[in-house]
Amino acid sequence: MNEESDQAKKWHIGSIKSFLVLCVVFALLILYWESQRKKTEFVPLTHLSKTRNVTILIWYWPFGSTFSLKGDVCWDLYKIPNCKLVDQRSLFPSADVVVFHNRELIAGTQRLPTELQRPGGQRWAWMSLESPAHNGNLHKFANIFNLTVSYRRDADVHTPYGELLPLESEGNLVNDSHINKTSLVCWVVSNYMNHHKRTQVYRELSATVPVNVYGSWNKKLLSSADLLPTISRCYFYLAFENSQAKDYITEKLWYNAYQGGAVPVVLGPPISDYKAVAPDHSFIHVDEFPSVQELGKHLQRLAKDRKQYEEYFTWKRNQRVKVHGDWREMLCKICLQYNSLPQHKVYSDLEAWDKT
Ligand SMILES: *[C@@H]1O[C@H](CO)[C@@H](O)[C@H](O)[C@H]1NC(C)=O
Ligand SMILES: *[C@@H]1O[C@H](CO)[C@@H](O)[C@H](O)[C@H]1NC(C)=O
Ligand SMILES: *[C@@H]1O[C@H](CO)[C@@H](O)[C@H](O)[C@H]1NC(C)=O
Ligand SMILES: *[C@@H]1O[C@H](CO)[C@@H](O)[C@H](O)[C@H]1NC(C)=O
Repeated sequence: MNEESDQAKKWHIGSIKSFLVLCVVFALLILYWESQRKKTEFVPLTHLSKTRNVTILIWYWPFGSTFSLKGDVCWDLYKIPNCKLVDQRSLFPSADVVVFHNRELIAGTQRLPTELQRPGGQRWAWMSLESPAHNGNLHKFANIFNLTVSYRRDADVHTPYGELLPLESEGNLVNDSHINKTSLVCWVVSNYMNHHKRTQVYRELSATVPVNVYGSWNKKLLSSADLLPTISRCYFYLAFENSQAKDYITEKLWYNAYQGGAVPVVLGPPISDYKAVAPDHSFIHVDEFPSVQELGKHLQRLAKDRKQYEEYFTWKRNQRVKVHGDWREMLCKICLQYNSLPQHKVYSDLEAWDKT
């Protein structure tokens, strides 16, 4: 090899190197430009996007109480985009989902508009927050509904009475949960029925430990303003459901007990249903004890042990409870699920679904 070709080779290698460097720089530029482009595109996607709006029509308001639908309700109140909530029946032809609340249907004060031709792709939704024992006989609703809206975790649209959210910033755990407690156990009850399991548990418990009972049954009515302050003065609150059914955990736990700052003693679905949704070590389940007397003795011991009692509030360090809002929140939630709903689904036996 002569010197000249050696020189040429060096020059050749040099130019390949610079070419490669240029390529890398160019590729990086493209990547950067793409990422910027995506960033600017992201903003309209969340709200003013090209995605079409989903229209949810509430055929009649549950329990007859109407709510304002002014403005872009789902976005303004719950930051749920592309969701149009309406209550004018004239909008039936353009509705993607028409929602029927069960209570009025079984009471006969409202009926399904079965005479109307359903536009292709329109879904009818069955909505209920009651336990199966209070939903009535649903046999007549076979092959009508395409989706369910319920507190049940296996519903198409899950609308629990309350849920657990992470705290954005770490909460200050002030160990004052034992302060101002004047009663061991409290209970608020209006619907007191001999056949309820909770009535039997209450009777056995009150034979062991003192239970302060409020509500219309005991003629010690509490105004809504007095409810939480009253509960906050109790070590334990009986969050007893009126019926025992899968996932049926109501505001008695989420609002009365957790917001009131008393440790909930729960009676309802099995412990595993509570564990799936409630904070760790935040409640005491009646089933954990061989007898109600044992439960009573345990509560007495716990109230005297400040350290053990406070451990029931440790979850508040990084979690908080959100109690469900009004019906509009549930209806807007349908939009969140809309794109993942099955293409075709019919509840051929709603009664069987509800009662299992
Ligand atoms: C969706 O609804 C919002 C609020 O009503 C409206 O501003 C927007 O133009 C609608 N988008 C489409 C694609 O219809
Ligand atoms: C509260 O109690 C917990 C556990 O007993 C302890 O780790 C924490 O430091 C206490 N916080 C305060 C503010 O006393
Ligand atoms: C205890 O009660 C007093 C008087 O009602 C109130 O000011 C205080 O905030 C209460 N403390 C706690 C920890 O709830
Ligand atoms: C909804 O249910 C009706 C009545 O059974 C049925 O004809 C229709 O195909 C279903 N629609 C969807 C989207 O599943």
